[in-house]
Amino acid sequence: MGRRFQSSTRRRVREKEIDLNSGSAAVGLAIFLAAHGACLSQQATTQPSRPWMNPSLSPDQRAEEVMKQLTLDEKIQLVHGIGWGPLKTGSPIPPDNNGGAGEVLGIPRLGIPSLQQADSAVGVRMAALQSRYATLLPSVLAAASSWDPEAAHLYGDVIGRELRAQGFNQSIGGGVNLARDPRNGRLFEYAGEDPLLAGVTVGHVIRGVQDNQVMGDIKHFAFNDQETGRAIVDARISAKAARESDLLAFELGIRIGEPSSVMCSYNKVNGDWACENEWLLNHVLKGAWHFPGFVVSDWDGTHSTEKAAVAGLDMQMPGDEYFGAALKEAVASGRLPLHRLDDMVHRVLRSMFSAGVIDHPPTTRRVVDPFRGREDARHIAEESIVLLKNDGTLPLNAGAVRSIAVIGAHADVGILSGGGSAQVDAPGGNAISPATPTQWGEAVYFPSPPLRYIREHAGGARVQFDAGTDAASAASLAQSADIAIVFADQYMSESGDAPSLSLPGRQDELITAVAAANPRTIVVLITGNPVTMPWIDHVAGVMEAWYPGIGGGQAIANLIFGSVVPSGKLPITFARSESDLPHERIFGMTHSSAKGDSPTFWAADKQQRQSLVADYKEGVRFGYKWFDSEGKQPLFPFGYGLSFTKFRYTNLRVEPATKTATFAIQNVGPRSGTEIAQVYVQLPKSSGEHFRRLAAWQRVDVPAGQQTVVTVPLEPLAMATFDVKKDAWVWASGKYTISVGGSSRDLPLVTDVVLY
Ligand code: BGC
Repeated sequence: MGRRFQSSTRRRVREKEIDLNSGSAAVGLAIFLAAHGACLSQQATTQPSRPWMNPSLSPDQRAEEVMKQLTLDEKIQLVHGIGWGPLKTGSPIPPDNNGGAGEVLGIPRLGIPSLQQADSAVGVRMAALQSRYATLLPSVLAAASSWDPEAAHLYGDVIGRELRAQGFNQSIGGGVNLARDPRNGRLFEYAGEDPLLAGVTVGHVIRGVQDNQVMGDIKHFAFNDQETGRAIVDARISAKAARESDLLAFELGIRIGEPSSVMCSYNKVNGDWACENEWLLNHVLKGAWHFPGFVVSDWDGTHSTEKAAVAGLDMQMPGDEYFGAALKEAVASGRLPLHRLDDMVHRVLRSMFSAGVIDHPPTTRRVVDPFRGREDARHIAEESIVLLKNDGTLPLNAGAVRSIAVIGAHADVGILSGGGSAQVDAPGGNAISPATPTQWGEAVYFPSPPLRYIREHAGGARVQFDAGTDAASAASLAQSADIAIVFADQYMSESGDAPSLSLPGRQDELITAVAAANPRTIVVLITGNPVTMPWIDHVAGVMEAWYPGIGGGQAIANLIFGSVVPSGKLPITFARSESDLPHERIFGMTHSSAKGDSPTFWAADKQQRQSLVADYKEGVRFGYKWFDSEGKQPLFPFGYGLSFTKFRYTNLRVEPATKTATFAIQNVGPRSGTEIAQVYVQLPKSSGEHFRRLAAWQRVDVPAGQQTVVTVPLEPLAMATFDVKKDAWVWASGKYTISVGGSSRDLPLVTDVVLY
């Protein structure tokens, strides 16, 4: 709006000047400070002329005080962002730009800083462009596998503190779309298939971010549940099913995390674009949930001016096509009431005050602590790796093993990460091709090689590596070793889905050949999504490590050798085949879905001119609710995961007054361990539901031979249905069946109780 910025080339020159700390750098700095000095020097001081700097006023009062000072142009400036920043060559870049995916210019004369927005789904993105380092965390799906709100909080804390250290004041992470389809390319950015587990996980991630006085976000609102055709697809779903599934995950995430913003998604929902969807934005989000923050569009997800503004969109990102001059004109001509523009601006400002980015701006840049980041990432990975099969071969006893064959997935140099706007830059470049700059859609490996950490644990055992590119050579190495550990991986990214549930390439063949050569074969999966396992009956053990982050190599080795006892459990069902899913094919997937195909990224965009419908007629019945109500046998059920010890459940009591479940867990095995105890509820018959819902859980450490008594509150919304006529949650009277145990398919304790 009325401001011109230097080109990216000029900006690079300016940065170089500052970096060189030369005389011209000082001049550059002086110019920068002249423009923005007011903003830096007057923060957090209460001045009579700036009543909004009085921290004893509420964020809403402070926002109103600022509003009194703003011109119409300044208001317009606060509801859209600048270009694609460094994402697109030649984009205009403001002088104070921090190198993130977005920037909304502040109002320096009033001490309102710019919003510096950074993608940070699994760690801060694009750090390398600024010669910075950022910690790669395990995937969000992995964090959900820990079922540990504290680990989720730590996850957000790592992101928040590194954003802050790098001068960003808003995270645009917080993905919580439910896993309606296990082939969705962004599942690694999300927290699984259950609304309660996903909402609680992401809510705590957001809290962790915001505890660093960095604004948090939740996305992609809503039903962006596949990447294929994401910019054209119309997700159709009944209001009841919507509220009880994907929207419930958002509702809980927002309740717990109180994010500054909600990012609306690219797709349509029941005929209207999500970013101009009156029902979604005004009725549900701002009406029913009283969300006080702002709605920001996904990048280029805005489609109109008045319609979007009236429907509840508060900020277009990036660019000003709709929320720049066109918005000003709409207000000036009376087509959009000024009070709606004021509401948009108020929401942005109150969120900034509330998160603390005006009182405590991230002005002191620091180099992040890579060691602390790696330790935190390793801890989360260790809690989240899921042991799926073990015939007793694990943990390996270093003293008793003479030789180990490590095979596949570049386990000699690194560990795979997820791509797209969740891609964190690998220190030293891609571990498998360090010399070349990484491209969108390229599988990036991080320097946390499992081989190295397996060797560290293996004592005197001979540990040899085979790349796994030739099944016969891998099998021959496996045959010569006591133990074979095969790594198999699957690269996933935004803008593409997996064409099938199979591991890509010829990895199934490789595992089959290795297992045939050595029955003591352990498979370690480094995947974004669940996969099928045609070789499952022939291997000794399987570990799902997801994308385990920068501490992944260590975490995997620590579990294999038993210095850490596995505790993670699946936040998503593993199907035996595509034909067991609610939809055998992803809506609109046009290219071949032959087993072993890799995803094709940007396949979605090739369909820009077509329309596409995703008819979610299964409603809430996906994941375990689908398998349970259809009587289908999954490969591994939701909530499943093994330990190196065994737990026994006894003495269930459900207290209707407090709506709590109390039960005892006994560790009847040889080792201390951590159990994730799960409570499911089946609603009274009148609901017509033929499946259970997760209603509570507790992650609990139980020493060997001991017993712990657990009391957990049942989540009221997990026991409610949404009454569309009343436009409200309702709780049926009658008997609720409460089941407790170690997975959705292993529930030894059951009781019926009238709760409402
Ligand atoms: C993604 C968002 C991301 C944005 C900015 C979009 O393509 O869907 O999740 O935050 O780009 O990079």
